[in-house]
Amino acid sequence: MASTSGAAQVLVASNRGPVSYEVREDGSLRAKRGGGGLVSGLSAIGPDAGALWVCSALGDGDREAVRRGVGETGVRMLAIPADVHADAYNGIANSVLWFVHHMLYQTPLEPVFDAEFRRQWASYETYNRAFAEALAEEAAEGAAVIVQDYHLALVPGMLRDLRPDLRIGHFSHTPWAPPEYFRMLPDDIAGQLLRGMLGADRLGFLTHRWADAFTACCAEFAGGLGDTRIGVHGLGADADFLRRRSHEADVTERMAALRQEIGEGRRAIVRVDRTELSKNIVRGLLAYGQLLDDHPEWRERVAHVAFAYPSRQDLAVYRDYTAEVQRVAEEINERYGTPGWTPVVLHVKDDFARSLAAYRLADVALVNPIRDGMNLVAKEVPVVSDEGCVLVLSREAGAYEELGEDAIAVNPYDVTATARALHAALTMGPEERAERTKRLVAAATALPPAQWFLEQLQSLRAAV
Ligand code: F6P
Repeated sequence: MASTSGAAQVLVASNRGPVSYEVREDGSLRAKRGGGGLVSGLSAIGPDAGALWVCSALGDGDREAVRRGVGETGVRMLAIPADVHADAYNGIANSVLWFVHHMLYQTPLEPVFDAEFRRQWASYETYNRAFAEALAEEAAEGAAVIVQDYHLALVPGMLRDLRPDLRIGHFSHTPWAPPEYFRMLPDDIAGQLLRGMLGADRLGFLTHRWADAFTACCAEFAGGLGDTRIGVHGLGADADFLRRRSHEADVTERMAALRQEIGEGRRAIVRVDRTELSKNIVRGLLAYGQLLDDHPEWRERVAHVAFAYPSRQDLAVYRDYTAEVQRVAEEINERYGTPGWTPVVLHVKDDFARSLAAYRLADVALVNPIRDGMNLVAKEVPVVSDEGCVLVLSREAGAYEELGEDAIAVNPYDVTATARALHAALTMGPEERAERTKRLVAAATALPPAQWFLEQLQSLRAAV
């Protein structure tokens, strides 16, 4: 049993860390820093708070950085063997746990829990154990540890065994599956996952719906929650950062280019997603096509700006989905397009400044996931849009819990109803649009990232 007390007072653990490395042609390493809620949260507690972020090396550059001993203060990158990481991340986290919590399986043929699954599960255990051991080594006596996401569901239980003195929290950024779906997992695996999570003092979720689903799974498969507390922290948009960043020169430049692509005077229905199977981009395109059929008056007067950025391209099913998005977009452009009008403006190469440009130009934001932990785009577009925008929002997105009243809600599977919602959004009067945007912005910014993190930390320290 490792019982070394390190120096860190606040520890965060996540698969993807705040920095990644690339080996340049000359052999030197280039560090790339990321953003997001945890980065803001940790900067809010200040550099002297004794914080440490434990993350995994993801690519070759990261592994090389670990090998050379290159790193950032406050970050410890774990060089978990590449094959173990691939099994844990691609095999279990993204192909099983993500699919279960987002309810993505095409059940007549999948999932198949066979010997290969068991082999990958062993890697998932190894990978979780590497995190638990590193945290146990680095944490000061009584320190607070907040573990992130489904990649690390076993860490709280493992860490509890190694260091019973710690305050252990876990936060889920995804939905949690309801018991009827969760029970698809082999019984022993389901039990191991729940017991792993219940090793924490406190578990955080993005909405009450996901927290209730977890509680229901525990009631059914783990004999209840035991001493573990549950909290809901609805991560909000970082309004200050977004407003400032979206007025920088590169964004203004991209606005001009995008305005040209859309066409002067045309309305813009905007969506920006990582191309996850759960985002429902294809049905969004079909709904847009249906709108052009049902309301030909919109032809040449509107464009659908769809940014579908690459995600998890190691997985064939993700690559196929991206191809399908491109195919359907092209089909719509061929069918309805005219020499002066491209109905769908699709981009698949990630460009943050261009995303902000699209947010600023948006008349309508389309956020129609089949299931989503929160969906920050739904919160960001109203904050950034120059003229205010109408939000067409899936009732299956976590953001619906906070934004539902001022959005136009859709059943994400109902393409006809989504087309109707787009029409309603495009025809909404300016006063109602402004009023709704004001309320959407207030709800979207109620819990900015830094506060979201501090709130969890305080609740964890207060949990007995
Ligand atoms: O959006 C949900 C989420 O689990 C985030 O918490 C996390 O950053 C991301 O998905 C993981 O994505 P990736 O596989 O690209 O690291």
